[in-house]
Amino acid sequence: MVADGRRIGDSLVILTGAGMSADSGVPTFRAADGLWEGHRVEEVATPEGFARDPALVHAFYDARRAHLAAVEPNAGHLALARLEREWPGNFLLVTQNVDDLHERAGSERLIHMHGELQRGWCLACDHRLPWAGAMGEGAVCPACAATGQVRPDIVWFGEMPYQMDRIDEAIRTCDLFVSIGTSGAVYPAAGFVQTARYVGARCLELNLDPSQGSIFFDETRLGRASEIVPRWVDELLD
Ligand code: OAD
Repeated sequence: MVADGRRIGDSLVILTGAGMSADSGVPTFRAADGLWEGHRVEEVATPEGFARDPALVHAFYDARRAHLAAVEPNAGHLALARLEREWPGNFLLVTQNVDDLHERAGSERLIHMHGELQRGWCLACDHRLPWAGAMGEGAVCPACAATGQVRPDIVWFGEMPYQMDRIDEAIRTCDLFVSIGTSGAVYPAAGFVQTARYVGARCLELNLDPSQGSIFFDETRLGRASEIVPRWVDELLD
């Protein structure tokens, strides 16, 4: 397969961030109208914030979970699901997003490295489980019956993102690394492009604005994910 005059092998890793879901109506984090407005990160996205004010943190994530019912995958999510079905080689989609829009679009080889809104984690018995609807402070763990010990299964600041070994292995062996809709402000995801570069993969960024790590990419294409992702997928599969 040839793109932009360079030969591309068969291993593809795609990283997505909040910009992927922006055209579906899910606010990004660092935009002026971003979700953090009115909340400091430490209040709603750290274990310490949760210990200090669990009611506030539950209300924040319960609202985001409820909002999922009002949004749909956009053309960008659908294009990535099509790419996964039709791509002849290795494929891995890594998302920082905690919404379920990739899977609703049909993506299967998907890692939620920052967790999922629709999952809970019982701190009493360490059980992780699917969670629909509000969680709140009074949630009862279906595994151990403890009350008030279930928290959103979201990776907060200071915690280790999920499946890093699998992600690292995929990036170290990829030929093409594509970053979509992420500001490059949060590690370790922000550093994936440097690993991909180091192993000689071609690196492409698709974003509304150049990310903080833009200089590490071979190419940056600017635009809305719902428009530029389908166009890029068509180009790659043709
Ligand atoms: P950010 O809010 O930091 O960045 C969103 C990026 O998407 C920006 O670079 C925007 O330019 C771009 N963008 C906005 N609208 C877009 C559109 N319609 N199409 C394409 N791109 C668009 O979000 P993330 O980089 O995902 O972590 O943030 C990373 C992590 O920071 C999140 O996963 C979250 C947060 O703390 C956790 O919750 C653990």
